[in-house]
Amino acid sequence: MTVSIRNFETLGFEIQAINLSKPLSASDRIAIENALDRHLVVVARDQHLSDPELLAFSANFGELDPPGPNPYGEPFNKEFPEINVISNVIENGRPIGNLGAGEAAWHADMTYIDVPPKAAVLYALEIPPSGGGDTYFADMFAAYEALPLDLKGAVEGKLAVHDASRNSAGLLRKGYAEVLDPRRTVGARHPLVRTHRGSGRRALFLGRRHNAYIAGLELAESDALLDALWAHATQPRFTMRHEWRVGDVLMWNNLAVLHRRDPFDPDSRRVMHRTQIKGVERIA
Ligand code: SIN
Repeated sequence: MTVSIRNFETLGFEIQAINLSKPLSASDRIAIENALDRHLVVVARDQHLSDPELLAFSANFGELDPPGPNPYGEPFNKEFPEINVISNVIENGRPIGNLGAGEAAWHADMTYIDVPPKAAVLYALEIPPSGGGDTYFADMFAAYEALPLDLKGAVEGKLAVHDASRNSAGLLRKGYAEVLDPRRTVGARHPLVRTHRGSGRRALFLGRRHNAYIAGLELAESDALLDALWAHATQPRFTMRHEWRVGDVLMWNNLAVLHRRDPFDPDSRRVMHRTQIKGVERIA
């Protein structure tokens, strides 16, 4: 088996000539890891994976992180609870997955825990025939490097709290109370800037905007700085867009990109299965 990698842009790679349902060779695994480290988003198209095959592929990159709590309080995929289901489909009066058909706002996954997942894998099983639901990624290395000097100074040494109470569609997770004052947000605190351990490159680490708060600042000052950082980091010049096809397996480097998803026709079906690879480092 060979992995051929086609570079679209700095952000995003397509892996070709690979069958991810089969065990990966060590060299294929390393090639994918390197692409993910360097290009942050990696896609392989036309794949056919059962749930156990998706789990086996994902486990090449580390231990799996179970999905965060969802609004309904039990795993969507009861047979394979490490798999998160991202879907708008309702069966027997109950959603089969998370996030519905609306927009999912810019975020990184599970940054409300102390050691967030280092990567995620999203596998497209059903896609709306009329389109919509494209997913966008923003490169946080590029965003940090292009920060105006005053903002670079302002983020230095600062920690922000990352809200655990709501998912990226804005729904309250089971067991969490509404946050009324971001100074009381419940969730992990991380530096606003992360340094890549190998290369020393620095990246913005923003997680999610809703209920975020920068420790030690007045609330208005924190909101103003966060708004400026988010407006900067999500400019189109730092982003790529992925238009889904059934069979796409897309991985992203969760510590180095933000992602968001377009809304789509709520009367159509979109079903994706997702895994998360456990992180191995605190953000520093
Ligand atoms: C997500 O935020 O993980 C979902 C992305 C998508 O539905 O494309």
